[in-house]
Amino acid sequence: MLSSPEAIRYVLVTQAHLFKPTYPKSKEKLIGPSALFFHHGDYHTKMRKLFQPSFSQNVIRNLIPQIEAIATSALDSISGGKVVNTFYEMKKFTFEVAVLSIFGHLDTSYKEMLKKNYNVLDKGYNSFSIKLPGFSYTKSVMARRRLGKILCEIIEEKRENRVDEKDLLGRLINFKDHENGQLLTDDLIADNVIGVLFAAQDTTASLLTWILKYLHDDSKLLQAVKEEQKAIFEANVGGELGLTRAQTRNMPLTDRVGQKPNTFMPFGNGVHACPGNEVAKLEILILIHHLVNKYRWEVVESRNGVQCNPYPIPWRGLPAKFWKAP
Ligand code: HEM
Repeated sequence: MLSSPEAIRYVLVTQAHLFKPTYPKSKEKLIGPSALFFHHGDYHTKMRKLFQPSFSQNVIRNLIPQIEAIATSALDSISGGKVVNTFYEMKKFTFEVAVLSIFGHLDTSYKEMLKKNYNVLDKGYNSFSIKLPGFSYTKSVMARRRLGKILCEIIEEKRENRVDEKDLLGRLINFKDHENGQLLTDDLIADNVIGVLFAAQDTTASLLTWILKYLHDDSKLLQAVKEEQKAIFEANVGGELGLTRAQTRNMPLTDRVGQKPNTFMPFGNGVHACPGNEVAKLEILILIHHLVNKYRWEVVESRNGVQCNPYPIPWRGLPAKFWKAP
């Protein structure tokens, strides 16, 4: 077990080949055994090459208006003054953005089916993996089967309609192995799509929940973020996109005061480093921008605890009330 950032960096960057990513079989089955993060070596390298361009700044900048629409609709839907579970609401937001970044445009009916079944899968993901009727794990396995079918339908439809290559699904569908001329199978594509939904949802939602908590607890920080946000948002989202530089300098997520250089690795490092980091930073920037400028919120949970599920999140998902700024 390693704890110093320097040692972790050394292993991730130069010794990763000595470690094989291993997950319990029950979890591998729920996501899909071909998902990127279960792998290592040639298959992993090939798939990463396919993934990376779809999550690059050049491609995701085209998603900005749609991410803004998702953010404002998510915030509007919770700003009636009723107590909501912030983490749960942020999960809905990050799921929608993940779907957008994978599929580009997707019919509402397919989106709803994916959401419904993925939620069932998600609920049983960390439950005891016993396959008896009525148990969460069994429900998850069944939802995974349905998700596989829905995804195969979407893939078939897109294959027939000759999809746009830029989004991840399009790239996976159009990929032809130059060594043997083979296409990726529908099952392999489905595993990877579910893998991205999984990698994208709770990570980003838990971070957003923490940001909301810290902004709520510290009015000076909120004021500073409001001012910084205006400048970053106008410079990046309103104008040209140069997120990495602006964000590593400014966002609370990447506040590196007192940290040794090159040891801050929220997105990992080396061959498995997060390919979706630009998507995550963009959606966080957009949601926080709208939140601090147009909404107000009040945390109703007095306990300052941490809950692990398994990512650390504020106690009980940070119950809070939201409303539109007057
Ligand atoms: C704040 C949000 C996020 C954080 C903190 C985060 C963090 C990470 C970390 C640390 C890893 C490396 C894990 C390892 O070394 O095994 C990773 C991998 C990954 N992330 Fe993210 N991530 C976030 C959001 C996203 C989003 C939005 C997407 C997709 C749109 C995404 C897709 C992936 C994928 C596919 C992998 C597997 C990469 C591989 O194994 O080669 N992540 N993420």
